[in-house]
Amino acid sequence: MGPLAFFLDMHPALGDFRNDVIEGLAQDQKSLSPKYFYDERGSALFKQITEQPEYYPTQTEKKILLENAADIAAAPGPNAAVFEYGSGASEKIEWLLNGLDRPAAYVAMDISKDFLIEAASTFARNFDLPIAAVCADFHGHVHIPPNILPAPARWLGYFPGSTLGNMTPALAARFLRRAGETLGTGAQFLLGVDLEKDAHIINAAYNDEAGVTAAFNLNLLTRMERELGADIRIEDFEHYAFYNEEDWRLEMHLRAKKQTEIALDGRKFSFAAGETLHTENSHKYSINRLKALFAETPWRLDTVWTDENQWFAACLLSNN
Ligand code: SAH
Ligand code: AVI
Repeated sequence: MGPLAFFLDMHPALGDFRNDVIEGLAQDQKSLSPKYFYDERGSALFKQITEQPEYYPTQTEKKILLENAADIAAAPGPNAAVFEYGSGASEKIEWLLNGLDRPAAYVAMDISKDFLIEAASTFARNFDLPIAAVCADFHGHVHIPPNILPAPARWLGYFPGSTLGNMTPALAARFLRRAGETLGTGAQFLLGVDLEKDAHIINAAYNDEAGVTAAFNLNLLTRMERELGADIRIEDFEHYAFYNEEDWRLEMHLRAKKQTEIALDGRKFSFAAGETLHTENSHKYSINRLKALFAETPWRLDTVWTDENQWFAACLLSNN
């Protein structure tokens, strides 16, 4: 119990927000990376999304992990250290650390720096274990600084919540290859992935009654105004989310309700009525498409745990 064992800031390129917005708005299909959702308000809104009754991924994953906790925690054996990608509020880790046999350390990594430090520091005060934090972009190379933590028997990567689904399958494969390099031979990886299902269930999860997902999506425009000085009539835009069955992905967009424009750095980007800014994809996998994905990486699929509806999967992978 105490301060962080280390805090490593890899300075993820958040300074590129301006460039990415300008480049994204200049495309035929306007688009922006979902990593920009997660400022302080966005991270807090995401947390609220996970509490909405329609947002089944969080509840379903939690149920799978708790029901199979003993088997999952036994898999890495004693003295494993956990590296969590996109750790957010570090809310999905306690059950795992509690179940592991003498865990060696916990390293939380996220792109949202203030949220990360706050979550990891709170954790470090309450847990008798070396806890560290890395602020980085998980699309890049991530290094765990050597010789600071006691050497673990093996690393266990942990990537819950189906955040992998926010990458295209090609980027997901690259991410998993890089995770193999970061965590090394002998590592294991516990991955949460949302599965294909009836479109109306998916559509409801991203169009919650309380409008929290809409607020999360629209917060991107508020960020552009506040941080970049963009001139936007936010009331001209609406949240638009639908399941694209051909590409097995939920798409989130910000749609212009009428002809409008965004002005930024002396440039004007016009939107026709109905035109969208594409803000996120959330890919839904079948077990077969997951197997094809893993085949492009060094990871071997050892076990898949799922719920009675087969809505979500927890996969245990190993890098031998
Ligand atoms: N693991 C948590 C949070 C998921 S939300 C859960 O399952 O509930 C996605 C998390 O990934 C956020 O905390 C966000 O800040 C982080 N994130 C998004 N893009 C990222 C990136 N490119 N690199 C690192 N972290 C990222
Ligand atoms: C973080 N990620 C897995 C969430 C998802 O479901 O794709 C982000 C989210 N977007 C809208 N609601 C939740």
